[in-house]
Amino acid sequence: MSTSNKNSGMSHATIETNNGLMIVLILIVLLFGGMVEIVPLFFQKSTTIAAPGLKPYTSLQVAGRDIYQREGCYNCHSQMIRPFRAETLRYGPYSKANEFVYDHPFQWGSKRTGPDLHRVGGKYSDQWQITHLNNPRDLVPESIMPAYPWLMNAPVDAASVPVHMSTLRTLGAPYTDAEIAAAVEDVTGKTEMEALVAYLQVLGTTSK
Ligand code: HEC
Repeated sequence: MSTSNKNSGMSHATIETNNGLMIVLILIVLLFGGMVEIVPLFFQKSTTIAAPGLKPYTSLQVAGRDIYQREGCYNCHSQMIRPFRAETLRYGPYSKANEFVYDHPFQWGSKRTGPDLHRVGGKYSDQWQITHLNNPRDLVPESIMPAYPWLMNAPVDAASVPVHMSTLRTLGAPYTDAEIAAAVEDVTGKTEMEALVAYLQVLGTTSK
């Protein structure tokens, strides 16, 4: 009963006919590639230190950002301008990692049914944004973007804002106790529309 395997060591045939082994080896290769590409980014100042002039979101902008996520705007809009001429001509300077250090979670997105929004801040007036969100077709007749008319009347959920800001502080946003304490008062009486527009108007403005 003694047969000697002519493939001593680990041959291609051994790997390719053994699912479990193949999976383990693929994982090792991916882990190595990930470590080489991703880990250095955590230690590079250009990606971890805020861009000059970058401020953490104000209480109203934090509320607006929550509405952006709740309504799923990221399903159609990215917030990341790539360093290609076609993009920088259309949207402005390409996005840099240090512009997103206070974004948790970031809203880069990967789907562009609509235009990129990273530098939309200041592109239009507040009134344009309100009219557009209320019914995009009033301004862009061929638009396929959904209308969000209820934002006009919905009050901001003020109680959630200071909690959210404290959480962001644990992740590195330099809020003071006074800013967090003032948050409820700051946003009380504001509509969700005002909050969302406040958020849109600050997007990408540090590098403009
Ligand atoms: C079904 C896809 C879709 C969703 C969801 C969507 N949009 Fe849009 N959006 C578009 C399209 C398409 C355009 C381009 C036509 C237009 O301006 O209406 C657009 C345009 C815009 C513009 C103008 C951008 C520019 O540079 O002219 C803004 C601002 C905007 N959307 C914000 C939002 C916000 C905020 C939300 C979530 C509340 C949202 N969109 C949800 C598809 C979408």
